[in-house]
Amino acid sequence: MGQVRLGVNIDHVATVRNARGGALPDPVRAALVAIAAGADGITAHLREDRRHIRDEDMARLKRGISKPLNFEMAATDDMVAIALATRPHASCLVPEKRSERTTEGGLDVVGGHDHLKVVTTELKRAGIRVSLFIEPSREALEASHSIGAPVIELHTGAWCDALAHGESERADAEFERIRTAAAFTRELGIECHAGHGLDFDTARTISALPEIVELNIGHFLVGEAIFIGLPAAIAQMRKAMQEGRAAGESKR
Ligand code: PXP
Repeated sequence: MGQVRLGVNIDHVATVRNARGGALPDPVRAALVAIAAGADGITAHLREDRRHIRDEDMARLKRGISKPLNFEMAATDDMVAIALATRPHASCLVPEKRSERTTEGGLDVVGGHDHLKVVTTELKRAGIRVSLFIEPSREALEASHSIGAPVIELHTGAWCDALAHGESERADAEFERIRTAAAFTRELGIECHAGHGLDFDTARTISALPEIVELNIGHFLVGEAIFIGLPAAIAQMRKAMQEGRAAGESKR
């Protein structure tokens, strides 16, 4: 079992840029700094409303970075066309609602099974590694398997939210859902990623789960960068993840 990969999501560098309408801070520069500091890949979410990342950011990221680009997107015809033109290493399919502040839950992989299967097949045919952002549940995993996704990303938002509110019983129950779902990915032969709302502590804890291959982390790192700088925030995150993985290995 190797290291957990760290995908750095740079959406909120674009959020700060867009607050003033100019070109700075540049999310591509943030991506390059993140890679130099130890990121294994860069994630960016091109939302339908273009509230942070824009089309030209995605194209510049693809051209400008040396590590894998993970293109987060809704499973719409428009986004599929952009992904096929961009040819990222991976596409993570996420649900999208205009009114939400962030991706609030996992994909409806049961109700949207047939449509997601068509989109997944099309992206896979283009050589793009497809990941489905799902709730940590058995039903969602079985549906993802039937859709043919080689990778899933478990939504960690509910767990992180419970911890942030000091609701330890709910947090324990949510973590148990994540642990069980991660274990089930091994049976299904699906690669397991996780993300949403992670910080140093939660990244350390979840890295102990042996099935976790990659974490995608954005908002916390960009926030922490204000205080300690992006390279230091990424170095500290890597360290937390390594500590978590080592602690998990020593328990087994
Ligand atoms: N993974 C997915 C699929 C997401 O939608 C997001 C949020 O854009 C993240 C990871 C990163 O979440 P956060 O910004 O809270 O770290």
